[in-house]
Amino acid sequence: MNITGKTKVFGIIGDPVMHSMSPVMQNAAFEAANLDCVYVAFPVSRESVGQCADSMRTLQIHGLNVTVPHKVAVMETLDEIDTLARHIGAVNTIVNRNGSIVGYNTDGPGFMRALTDAGLDVYGKTVVMLGAGGAARAVAYSLAEAGAHLTILNRSVERAEALAMEVSSTRSEHVGYAPLEHACLRERVSTAHVLVNTTSVGMSPDVTSTPCPAELLRKDLFVCDIVYHPLQTRLLMEAESVGAPTIGGAEMLIQQGAQAFELWTGVPAPVEVMRRAVMERLTGAAG
Ligand code: ATR
Repeated sequence: MNITGKTKVFGIIGDPVMHSMSPVMQNAAFEAANLDCVYVAFPVSRESVGQCADSMRTLQIHGLNVTVPHKVAVMETLDEIDTLARHIGAVNTIVNRNGSIVGYNTDGPGFMRALTDAGLDVYGKTVVMLGAGGAARAVAYSLAEAGAHLTILNRSVERAEALAMEVSSTRSEHVGYAPLEHACLRERVSTAHVLVNTTSVGMSPDVTSTPCPAELLRKDLFVCDIVYHPLQTRLLMEAESVGAPTIGGAEMLIQQGAQAFELWTGVPAPVEVMRRAVMERLTGAAG
C-alpha cells in the first residue's frame, strides 16, 4: 500500500472497534481494485458520536462504517438517510457525497445476499428468527421485505413483541413472536423452513452454548447463524451433522462489507478477495 497526499480515507467508528474485521477486509478490497484508498478504525465514544458528520466534512473522510453502539445514535447527525436504513432504524454505512453525509444500511441486504448466494429464496417460506436485539432488526426487516412468514423468538419476550409489531407495521403481513423457550422452539421450528440465529449465544468464548437444541434440527431446515467467531458455531455444527444446509455469520459480514464498498466506490466489490482476507483472519484468530 502506497499512501500519499492524494489517498482517500475511509474507516469504521465504534466502541470498541479494535477487533473489527473491516480494516483487513476493506484494505484488501481497495488494493485488489487498484484504488488509492485506505481504511482505518476510529474508536469513538458515545459522547462524541454527534460530531461524526462534521468530522467527516472537516477531515474529508470519504466513507465510514458504523458499528456497536453507534448504529442508531449516528442517524441524528446525518444530512440524509436512505429509506431502507430508516425502516430498519439503524445505519451501518455512511457516504460523504461532496459534503453531504448520507446514511445507509447494508446489514440487511448483506444478509439477504448471503442467502441468495446459497440458493435460498425465502419468499413464502416460514422463518423462525431467534433474537430481537440490534443485529436482529436488519435481518427481520429484510426477511419480511422478501416475503418470508416470520416469527421472532427472544428470551425477553417483550423485545420480540416490540420488534414484531414494528416490522408488521411496515408490511401487510403479520409477524409472530414468542418467548425463546423449549416448548415454543419445538412448536415453531417443527414447521419452519429456515432458522436464523441473531442472538449472541454460541459466540466466543461461549462456544459450547447453542440457542436451539440439536434434537429440533432436521435435514430440511436451512440454518443460518450471524455469529462469525467461531466460524463454525455449535448450532452450525449440529445442523451440519443432521445434513441441514447452513450459512455462517462470516458470509453476512463479507456481503455487508461488499455492499458498503460498492456504495463508496461505484466499483463492483472483489468479493472473493474480501472473503479470503476475512477467512485468513478468522481462522488465525480462532486458534
Ligand atoms: P446485538 O446488537 O449483537 O444484537 P443485543 O442488542 O444486546 O446485541 O442483543 C443480543 C441478543 O441476544 C438479544 O436478543 C438477547 O436476548 P434478550 O433481548 O433477552 O437480552 C440475546 N441473548 C443474549 N444472551 C442470551 C442468552 N444467554 N440466552 C438467550 N438469548 C440471549
